[in-house]
Amino acid sequence: MQNKFVKSGNNGKPTVCVIAGDDAAPEVMRPTVELLHSLAPDIRFVEALSGREALERHGKTFPAETQAAIDAADCTLFGASGGPSRPILWYLRWDKETYVNIRPVRWYPGYRSPMLHPERIDYVIVRDNLEGMYPPREGHIAELSALSSSHFWWQAPPRDKEGSYAVRVCTDEQMRRVAVAACELALRRQAAGYPGRVTLGAKYSILPRTDGRFRAIVRETVRTYADLSYQEFLIDDLARRLIAAPETLDVVVLSNEHGDILADVASGSIGGLGLSPSACYGEHYAYFEPVHGSAPDLAGKGVINPTAMLLSGAMMLEYLGYAKQARCLEDAIEQIYKEGRVLTMDQGGDASTMEFVEAVTLRRG
Ligand code: NAD
Ligand code: IPM
Ligand code: MN
Repeated sequence: MQNKFVKSGNNGKPTVCVIAGDDAAPEVMRPTVELLHSLAPDIRFVEALSGREALERHGKTFPAETQAAIDAADCTLFGASGGPSRPILWYLRWDKETYVNIRPVRWYPGYRSPMLHPERIDYVIVRDNLEGMYPPREGHIAELSALSSSHFWWQAPPRDKEGSYAVRVCTDEQMRRVAVAACELALRRQAAGYPGRVTLGAKYSILPRTDGRFRAIVRETVRTYADLSYQEFLIDDLARRLIAAPETLDVVVLSNEHGDILADVASGSIGGLGLSPSACYGEHYAYFEPVHGSAPDLAGKGVINPTAMLLSGAMMLEYLGYAKQARCLEDAIEQIYKEGRVLTMDQGGDASTMEFVEAVTLRRG
C-alpha cells in the first residue's frame, strides 16, 4: 500500500528547513543536523532564524525570511518552542495544515523505564494536530449566554460571576482525516506483523457532540477497512491502560489535547521525554519535532538527551525517501542503548549531548 506520508518528487535533492527553537532545543538540533547530513549528503539543510536570535537580528521572533525558508523547503525539522518560537510552531501547524501528529511509543532495551515489563510497550499515538482546545479561543463567561445552544445546556453558565471559557472545535472533516491516517498507519503496521488494531480514547460518555462524534467517525472509518479491528475506551480508562496493559495497544487515536497529555504519559512509561520523536503530516507539508519542549532547566548545560530529536530526524529521512539511512540511524541508537555505556543523565549516565551523538556517529555503519 502506498504511504501518502512519504514525499515524492524532490528530484533526489530535497531541502530541509531547520528551526532550532528555544532554550536547550538548539543543543539537540545542531548535532542532529550534522549527523543527518553525514547520512544523506544530498539533502540540503537550510537553517532559518527563530526565537531570540531572530528577534535580535530582525526585530521579530518570526521574520519573513524564516517563513520564506519554511515555504521553500520540502519539510521542516523543528527543535522546540519555549515561547519565543511559538508563532513559528503555529505557522507550521495551522498555516501549513499539518493535520495529524504521529507519536511512536516504543521501548528499546536500555531505555530507563520505570515500568516492570517495558518490553510490552510498542504502539503509536495518532493525534489531531489542529482542532479541539488548540489554538486558543477564549473569552469572558458573560458572552456564553448569547449562544443559542446555551439554552439547552444541562447547567447554564454562571452569568454573574467573573470567569472565562475556552472553545473546543471539532469538524467532521478533520476528525475523518485523522481517523483515516490512523487506519492507514494500522494497515502499514499490520503488514509488518502488528495486529491492525485501532483504539479510540475519548470522553464520549459526557461530550456527545464532540467526543461522541469523534467516536462515531473513527468507528465508521475503521469499519471500512476489512482487515482492521477496533476498540474504544473512555479517555480516563485509556490513561490507565497505557500503564496497565500497553501490550493491548497498536494505533491509538486521540484528540489534540488528550494526545498532547497522554503522549507525555506514554513517553514517561518508556523512560522519558528525551526518547520520544514525532512527525506532523498534512496534504502539502510535513514537519518533524520531538515530543518534548525546550527543556529550559537543561539549557546551556550540554546534557540534554538528543535521542528524541535524532529519532524525529529518522522519521524525516523516511518521509524524504531515505528509508535505508533512517534504519541505519535507528539501529545505531538501538545499539547504544543495548550497550548502555554512553548514556545521558536522564538515562542514568554521565555522557554529554555531544558524546552521545559522537557514539551514534561511530556506530552508524
Ligand atoms: P519540557 O518537555 O521542555 O520538559 C519537561 C521535563 O523533561 C524537564 O524536566 C526537562 O528537563 C525534561 N526533558 C525534556 N526534554 C528532554 C530531553 N531531550 N532530554 C532530557 N530531559 C528532557 O516541558 P516543559 O518544561 O513543561 O516546557 C518547557 C517549554 O517547552 C514550555 O514553554 C512549553 O510550552 C514548551 N513546549 C514546547 C513544545 C513544542 O515546541 N512542540 C512541546 C512541549 C513543550
Ligand atoms: C507539544 C506541545 C504543544 C502542544 C504546545 C507547545 C502548544 O505541548 O507539541 O506536545 O500542546 O501541542
Ligand atoms: Mn506536549
